Amino acid sequence: MTEPTADQPAAPQRPGLSRRRLFGALGAGTAGVLAAGTAGGVVGRATADGPAGGAHASGAAPTDAVPFHGEHQAGIVTPAQDRLHFVALDVTTDSREDLVALLQDWTAAARRMTAGQDAGEVGAVDGDRYAPPDDTGEAIGLPPSGLTLTVGFGPTLFTTADGRDRFGLAVRRPAPLVELPSFPGDQIDPAISGGDLCIQACANDPQVAVHAVRNLVRIGAGVVSVRWSQLGFGRTSSTSNGQATPRNLFGFKDGTANLKAENGSTLDRFVWVGDDDADWLRGGSYLVTRRIRMLIEPWDSSSLDEQQRTIGRTKGTGAPLGQRAEFDPVDFTTRVDGEFAIPETSHVFLAHPTNAGTAILRRGYSFVDGSDGLGRLDAGLFFIAFQRDPGTGFVQVQRNLRRDALNEYVRHTSSAVFACPPGVRDPADWWGRALLSG
Ligand code: HEM
Repeated sequence: MTEPTADQPAAPQRPGLSRRRLFGALGAGTAGVLAAGTAGGVVGRATADGPAGGAHASGAAPTDAVPFHGEHQAGIVTPAQDRLHFVALDVTTDSREDLVALLQDWTAAARRMTAGQDAGEVGAVDGDRYAPPDDTGEAIGLPPSGLTLTVGFGPTLFTTADGRDRFGLAVRRPAPLVELPSFPGDQIDPAISGGDLCIQACANDPQVAVHAVRNLVRIGAGVVSVRWSQLGFGRTSSTSNGQATPRNLFGFKDGTANLKAENGSTLDRFVWVGDDDADWLRGGSYLVTRRIRMLIEPWDSSSLDEQQRTIGRTKGTGAPLGQRAEFDPVDFTTRVDGEFAIPETSHVFLAHPTNAGTAILRRGYSFVDGSDGLGRLDAGLFFIAFQRDPGTGFVQVQRNLRRDALNEYVRHTSSAVFACPPGVRDPADWWGRALLSG
């Protein structure tokens, strides 16, 4: 239980020392300082092997804590971590009080876990031996690992699919929060789509992300049940200029032309909800998820030229076709041998803001969910996009992709949309307070 993971050295501490006691040992107030985001390096630096995993662009190490409190929820423009555990839940009670209590309890546990502490105040091993512990224990000895927890509210929280207003929230549903339309070629499985609530857990250690989701689900027993969940093992986007662009399962750099944390006013325009939407959601964002199966075998038997013309960029450097380097501008007028270098059916041509007329912040992860029983990998991209309005964000881009050459190689198998409230401001605040206490 205290073993470091392969790519993640553990902070030096004695086996069996609870995360709560570790922080106590580092001195009173350390957790608060971590929460403020100024001393996250304490845990990351203090490893036997020196700096843990190298510094991030921000100066933070992959083991450090990401501040929980802020204007916006963490996990949106936070530099994308390496691992994902995403869970969608249904609320199983009609009691508004129980829903409020859950969101308050979740916030307290999330505040603690993102700072590298146990989910509960007592911890995994220090409580009454005749009672279930208030933390499940599998993160004992692990540092915060950049954990972010981002919560979202689905359309069915406001009005159920059969039209019931269980929590008196129907009038507070923001107009853009409606189920996504269907798109040509969709193969959506309702059993792994939708949900009243979601939690996106991202971390640089999968055990830390899974521990967080497991404990939030445990805390929610009797109020929520898991509808579906998804693990992701490698980020497919950069959300900060300081990050190197990762590759997706088709072998291409993904995230080159993404919106980034440093984009300031562009984020206000395309990602953060403004004053033209519901009051309680200002400073929040809409989250769209699509589980996209990637047809690995046909892709792998297509030529390099076909692959590059499908994406519109080179596979090696990630440069737009007709250009030399990854971040060279995309120029649709460039010709090579008399032909436009970037085909009009390529993914980049159709997704680019000049043609799609909008921009979204992509934050997806690769997945491999075993094989499909027919000898093929059940693998793909768990696509995540944040935007100010799903209608003028994901839906608009996806509609523009109807002629995308990439469609031959991908199948969308699940779909969901959530409204993510603004950040938790301080220790007295909780997820969804502006929605549920008004
Ligand atoms: C498995 C499915 C997908 C794969 C493999 C994929 C792959 C890629 C790659 C390799 C790039 C070029 C590098 C970059 O700028 O990030 C790219 C760009 C982009 N993709 Fe996708 N993508 C997929 C699905 C989607 C979907 C569903 C959407 C939105 C509806 C989308 C929106 C975009 C956008 C907006 C860009 C940037 C275009 C630009 O500004 O040049 N992608 N994608």
